[in-house]
Amino acid sequence: MAEVIVDRKLPLQASEEHNEYLHHDAFRPVDKEITATDLSSIGDIPKDIDGVYIRNGHNPVYQPKSGRYHWFDGDGMVHATTFADGKATFRNRMVMTTGLAAEMEAGRGLYPGLRDGFEAEEGLKNSSGTDVVLHNGEFKTLFSRCGQPYRLAADDFRTLGPDDFKGSWERGISAHSKVDERTGELIFFNYSFNSEPFMEYGVIDKDNRVSSVTAIDLPGPRLPHDSWVTENYTVLHDLPLYWDSALLALGKKKLKFDRDLASRFGVIPRHGSGGDIRWFECEPTYMLHTVNAWEDGDEIVAFGFKQLTPIPKIPRETPSARVQNYFLSFQFNQPRLTEYRFNLRTGKASERIVDEQCLEMPNINARYLGIRNRYAYNTMAAEIPYFLMSGIQKFDLQNRREVDRYELPKGKYMGQPVFSPRVGGKDEDDGYLISYVSEANHAEIYIWQAQTLGDGPIARIPLPQRIPGGSHAYWGNGSDIREAQMRQTANSH
Ligand SMILES: [Fe+2]
Repeated sequence: MAEVIVDRKLPLQASEEHNEYLHHDAFRPVDKEITATDLSSIGDIPKDIDGVYIRNGHNPVYQPKSGRYHWFDGDGMVHATTFADGKATFRNRMVMTTGLAAEMEAGRGLYPGLRDGFEAEEGLKNSSGTDVVLHNGEFKTLFSRCGQPYRLAADDFRTLGPDDFKGSWERGISAHSKVDERTGELIFFNYSFNSEPFMEYGVIDKDNRVSSVTAIDLPGPRLPHDSWVTENYTVLHDLPLYWDSALLALGKKKLKFDRDLASRFGVIPRHGSGGDIRWFECEPTYMLHTVNAWEDGDEIVAFGFKQLTPIPKIPRETPSARVQNYFLSFQFNQPRLTEYRFNLRTGKASERIVDEQCLEMPNINARYLGIRNRYAYNTMAAEIPYFLMSGIQKFDLQNRREVDRYELPKGKYMGQPVFSPRVGGKDEDDGYLISYVSEANHAEIYIWQAQTLGDGPIARIPLPQRIPGGSHAYWGNGSDIREAQMRQTANSH
């Protein structure tokens, strides 16, 4: 029988009329941090799952000062499950950012929010609630609006503090900075709306120090969300979706998608400088998430989700709290899996949509990041207009076709799944897909065998607490955590 300990009660205060990201059952925040050990399961938990499934998300405690809440304002909370020897332990923990700690001390919200004017951007709280990676034996939470990552202990996910990379980089990084698990490097970019350089790019080494960093020259401030990496290159995004500069001068924020401007993808050697970058022009679009990229002769092959309608049509009478529902639902921006090719010899780019379905939030076997791989695990946009997914598609990138899929029963939702390689497994897809699955006030962990996804989950683990819809997830291999910790111990002697 599972044992559940309540570690902390949270003084939830955030509230706003019409705001589903605060009040809908699928999103409202949870009010306590718990530890649940020896969880029982329906179907045995495989003994060859070793590591941590961790998912970040927004769990607002206090109100933005204006009372206007955007989902991305919400404080980061990780929901982490540790697997070992066929057993699972669940913990959820606030990311104890400097901002949240100050608000807890004051007992109220101290920061503006994303729905406030441009002048508020300078004072935004780094919620650290967008993304999470494992690097140097610690989990690091990342924020889509950049900022210092927060370091979390890999055993109990307590916050260790903001990461300045041992004093080597204090200007923060963006979400979707990527870990190359084969070299241990963290490959990052950041961006700024109000001061040049509008983008910086660099690499943190496996011991957590900057090994290279450079400014990237952009024509103006941009809103990049992701990038691609290959073994030798990184591909940065300059997309024609940005804050309207005329309104920006008046201190107002309105997103503009300029269909007259090309999307530009900048190929830079992994440790290169801004002067080395080569830009490739493609059709205008916006892209949230990339899948993977690799080098193929003179070309870089890159898969990502190109949006057909980056700015959704919003009905006039929509209450302001609900405008975000349109931007945050893939039903409205219509992503399509697209194959890009950048030819480094000719300087030409090509692109083609390879799947007409509305999917996003992909995951791959992370050991294949940056090298040729075959399988992407993409998630299906749910019918209801929120940031929710309703199933997994297994897509063969080499043959450009769907090979398997699993749709959740009606009324259940999931987020981004992770691929957990089977201990001792050899093939790329020899492992498990893992995700939290929720309905109303109940959550479970689903585990699928990646080679037989369509057969449904082989194990389900009911959880003692609901899981609000969230953002990104990561699989941290137990062996990587132990190896990094041994290396740190050796380095400290
Ligand atoms: Fe993202």
